[in-house]
Amino acid sequence: MAFEHVSVLLHETVDGLNVKPDGIYVDATLGGGGHAYEVCTKLGEQGGRLIGIDQDADAIKAAGKRLEGFGGEKVTIIRSNYCDMKPRLHEIGIDKVDGITVDLGVSSYQLDTAERGGFSYRVDAPLDMRMDQRQKMTARDIVNDYSESELYRVIRDYGEDRFAKNIAKHIVAERTKGPIETTGQLNEIISHAIPMKIQKTSGHPSKRTFQALRIELNHELDILRDTLDDMIDLLNPGGRLCIITFHSLEDRIVKSSFRKNENPCICPSHFPVCVCGNVSKGKVITRKPILPSEEELTVNSRSKSAKLRIFERA
Ligand SMILES: C[S@@+](CC[C@H](N)C(=O)[O-])C[C@H]1O[C@@H](n2cnc3c(N)ncnc32)[C@H](O)[C@@H]1O
Repeated sequence: MAFEHVSVLLHETVDGLNVKPDGIYVDATLGGGGHAYEVCTKLGEQGGRLIGIDQDADAIKAAGKRLEGFGGEKVTIIRSNYCDMKPRLHEIGIDKVDGITVDLGVSSYQLDTAERGGFSYRVDAPLDMRMDQRQKMTARDIVNDYSESELYRVIRDYGEDRFAKNIAKHIVAERTKGPIETTGQLNEIISHAIPMKIQKTSGHPSKRTFQALRIELNHELDILRDTLDDMIDLLNPGGRLCIITFHSLEDRIVKSSFRKNENPCICPSHFPVCVCGNVSKGKVITRKPILPSEEELTVNSRSKSAKLRIFERA
């Protein structure tokens, strides 16, 4: 299946980077290379570089094809988790960059391709959900091996589903009959755990549970939380970090990290001067997040929940 993905907030993100023709830029979630391509068109002949990172082999292949016209001097593609961005860049002699983009979540290709294993409740497929195909554990292991209380925690914390307890209970009861192997089976179980009148008004009943399983399996929130400071530290003065989030759990982490990096002072508010010694690393460019335009929403419904936040290094 062809790698199809329409980039979200494309121009807003690339404009937000303030690309300098001779700058070094990182796309930490390369996907199909849509944002990266746009960055590359703004780089000059001399010195400008784009480093693209993704943990998904299919994304690496697709982006490699899309960006090959820019040549090996300009574009370097690395298969890695972006949590290892700092050491991966160091390995190729880069310790500072002029901008980083992060477009979180999954690509439309990952969502829509059955062989990629059930990221979406809309496609009947084996329960997999790994972004990095080298990883051993899959969503099937979570659904079949986690205890009821662990499943409850995952669906409550990462899906924010008010029926988390009931969904966990139904999963555990069903798997006594045999392993739960597919998204179709899981959909069926979830639909019995949520009252019918709620299902009629609250969108697809599986939406929150699927999000929760994906976040848990790929450690999405921990990785984001743990890497934000590294990304800000990697930036040259004036360099920018542009992050697109797709749900409130991600957005809250980005917003609070940006605020903390802008104003890290922990002195009590009645102190006349700062004595904690924490120094601001820069400023938040987007007081309010940038949202997709009406026009983008019309052509790409998957942009609906996207929010772009930008931080600039001092
Ligand atoms: C929404 S897509 C990016 C699409 C891309 N911006 C474009 O315009 O084509 C997100 C990509 O990030 C990758 N990804 C998500 N989390 C990652 C992580 N922690 N490390 C590396 N890649 C990650 C996924 O595999 C996926 O290919």
